[in-house]
Amino acid sequence: MKIRSTKGLTFDDVLLVPKRSPVTSRRDVDTTTCLTPTINLRVPIISANMDTVTEAPMAIAMARSGAIGIIHRFMTIDDQVRQVRRVKRAEGFIVEQPYAVAADASIGEARQLMKRRDVGGLVVTDQKNELIGLITQRDILLAPDEKMPVNTLMTRPDHIISAAPDISLPEARTILHEHRLEKLPLIDKEGHLVGLITAQDIVKYDQYPDATKDNKGRLRVGAAIGVKGQDVDRAGALLAAGADLLVLDIAHGHADHCLEIMGELRRNFPKAQLVAGNVASRDGARDLAEAGADAIKVGVGPGSICTTRIVTGFGVPQLTAIMDSVAGVVDSGRDIPIIADGGIKTSGDLVKALAAGASTVMIGSLFAGCEESPGSTVIRNGQKFKVVRGMASLGAAMGRKAVEQTKDESAESQADWDKVVPEGVEAVVPYRGRVDELLYQLVGGLRSGLSYGGAFTIKQLQENAEFIEITSAGVRESHSHDVNKI
Ligand code: XMP
Repeated sequence: MKIRSTKGLTFDDVLLVPKRSPVTSRRDVDTTTCLTPTINLRVPIISANMDTVTEAPMAIAMARSGAIGIIHRFMTIDDQVRQVRRVKRAEGFIVEQPYAVAADASIGEARQLMKRRDVGGLVVTDQKNELIGLITQRDILLAPDEKMPVNTLMTRPDHIISAAPDISLPEARTILHEHRLEKLPLIDKEGHLVGLITAQDIVKYDQYPDATKDNKGRLRVGAAIGVKGQDVDRAGALLAAGADLLVLDIAHGHADHCLEIMGELRRNFPKAQLVAGNVASRDGARDLAEAGADAIKVGVGPGSICTTRIVTGFGVPQLTAIMDSVAGVVDSGRDIPIIADGGIKTSGDLVKALAAGASTVMIGSLFAGCEESPGSTVIRNGQKFKVVRGMASLGAAMGRKAVEQTKDESAESQADWDKVVPEGVEAVVPYRGRVDELLYQLVGGLRSGLSYGGAFTIKQLQENAEFIEITSAGVRESHSHDVNKI
């Protein structure tokens, strides 16, 4: 047994000492950071892989704002793959496999497919994947008979303007504009349809200049996996669907089975970007880095809905956990980023986490209150709230069982509920509107923080950072006080 003589610190225990600053405008600072060695973010924020925080709508909004979302894993592999695909298709310079319909399908079928896939048009292809027409919502808007075949209303090949697959964005823009087109199919030398560029996607491309995108112009997205044998299959399916990174997500990441699966994933998917966690110690971060992780997720028990520390007695206050983990990565001899996961309540906490050495932060509850989160909405005393739950809460455990459960085992499974030992709670958080507005506030605070830190970049913030421990009187002084807030 040993006891550490230094105190473990968290965000509220410290402040950053202001530094002489060359920054004259918050606009001049750069918040770009590394999520993994090959993925950069303009906004160093990740929405948590929790079932009340990140599914496709949240991941799309996060990526459009320059951040990123991680799709949670508490659903079937097929459902998680669908979520990833939804993000990858949300925008992109080129749609690689446009939704297609057969020429003899009915207008009703085409209409349903457009609705289901949330697209404004479909390509009409034959069995050799040659383009034989285009059909859009405008073509069928007032169609007198739903049973008519698609080929009666589609635009025929002799009226379709197409382009070669290697067309550039400015060239595509010019063609779409000059011919007042909505869609530009891309045809290879053999006459096969290989992609589609839509005017809408080019508009979105301009609308979100900071968006987190892959080299095909598609939004980036991550997906969480567990550490069981079938998670290797899950990983393969998610990567095939276009997931940009996988987050190996277990509460105690410094565990033999986590290190083993990390090695297996590395062997199976040598090029995949793999984030591993969670850890809260120097040894934990070092071991995961040595096992091949591309980023380390840090945090045992700091989250707003976490009760791990209370239930198990384990955890490390988050600021110390971040600093120790940075040291662990240095020990490994690798240069990979740290993700500070949990406990971020304000933009000030975000600045402190980055100054302590994290490259990005992961946020759960703050985002759970946003419009784009999947959590349900409740009204209390006329005020709107959204539900958030820890992934180790009783409710989440019950939800998972419900997904796994076959109908005839229900009686037996009901009896298991009292065997669950929750390490998280279910709660409500105030409704916070759109996530891009919340991100704007968080990034605004970070920009200001960089200027107080005499830094144009996050790296400079880390180099200049000097923390000062504060007392409870200091904490009280830091908040608005001795006034009646309106
Ligand atoms: P915040 O504070 O942003 O934290 O809401 C989000 C992070 O909390 C972790 N998490 C849990 N930790 N029991 C825990 O001990 C749980 O049930 C639980 N659910 C989520 C997770 O790391 C998340 O990103």
